[in-house]
Amino acid sequence: MGTSAPAGAAAPTVLVIGAAGKTGRAVTAALARRGVAVRAAVRSPARAETAYAAGAASISVCDLESGAGLDEALTDATAVYHLAPNVHPDEVAIARRVVAAAARAGVQRFAFHSVLHPHDGSMPHHVRKGLAEEVVRSAFPRATVLRPAAYHQNLVAAARSGRIAVPHSLDTPFTNVDLDDVAEVAAEVLTEAGHEARTYELAGPEVLTVREQAVTAARVLGHPVTAEQLTLEAWAAGPGSSLPEQARADLLAMFTAYDREGLVGDPTTLTTLLGRRPTTWGQALVAESATT
Ligand SMILES: NC(=O)c1ccc[n+]([C@@H]2O[C@H](COP(=O)([O-])OP(=O)(O)OC[C@H]3O[C@@H](n4cnc5c(N)ncnc54)[C@H](OP(=O)(O)O)[C@@H]3O)[C@@H](O)[C@H]2O)c1
Repeated sequence: MGTSAPAGAAAPTVLVIGAAGKTGRAVTAALARRGVAVRAAVRSPARAETAYAAGAASISVCDLESGAGLDEALTDATAVYHLAPNVHPDEVAIARRVVAAAARAGVQRFAFHSVLHPHDGSMPHHVRKGLAEEVVRSAFPRATVLRPAAYHQNLVAAARSGRIAVPHSLDTPFTNVDLDDVAEVAAEVLTEAGHEARTYELAGPEVLTVREQAVTAARVLGHPVTAEQLTLEAWAAGPGSSLPEQARADLLAMFTAYDREGLVGDPTTLTTLLGRRPTTWGQALVAESATT
């Protein structure tokens, strides 16, 4: 474990946990665009280049499962953005480790990346987020909590391949949100006053089924895009087969909930925070096509 910075980098002030992952890279980039020096917490030195490419000013290697490296990573940090590894069975204990280290370091500002509807008992990994929120608030009563819907970006690669295949109904409603919009809000709450002790539901501006997302994608991308429902069994034996058992069970529970009612939130808060309409699915497809 250790902290390193390229020569000439500014002193780090904001520690982003999980900085080399999908969400962490977007948050790091949004902070860097605001001129903030980001210290990127990564699991292994092999992920340093990924975090630097996103805009990190320095790197700190931390193991969230043991807590090793966290105290060093938090030295001199004034703010922390905590996001847990996706569907991690130990998410609540990870929150305890990060919060305890942040409290020891005297961090002034703490923001936590939760999820839309964290108290939905049909999805165990959402419930763990709700418990992690309590851990965060008990140590940092002025923490800001973001509760994003599912990201547009989860389905971009599938849409571009011409086939969106999901193991749930094609006709239940979603208010997916743009990851860069979420990251913009994360950067805002970490750098501006007025967000202390707030919990923000972050949902996209449209209510769309997967079938409707495929129609929009075909129009925007200019090629056929099909929507296909997989059985849970086919998903578990295919895309889900490489996952740890607990993660597979969590996601199967999530798909069952999606099959029943989708995942819908209110876009009002995100619209107010951004000062504009949040990014639509079609706009996200255009933006992703322009950058890759
Ligand atoms: N995807 C969505 O639509 C969505 C919506 C709302 C909320 N969320 C939440 O957003 C969070 C982040 O999701 P994501 O898709 O960005 O996850 P991700 O891409 O898997 O990123 C997680 C990061 O955590 C790192 N990590 C994993 N285990 C670690 C450990 N033991 N010690 C240190 N670092 C470790 C990973 O390191 P490596 O890079 O080395 O693998 C990775 O960089 C999750 O909690 C998820 O529930 C996601």
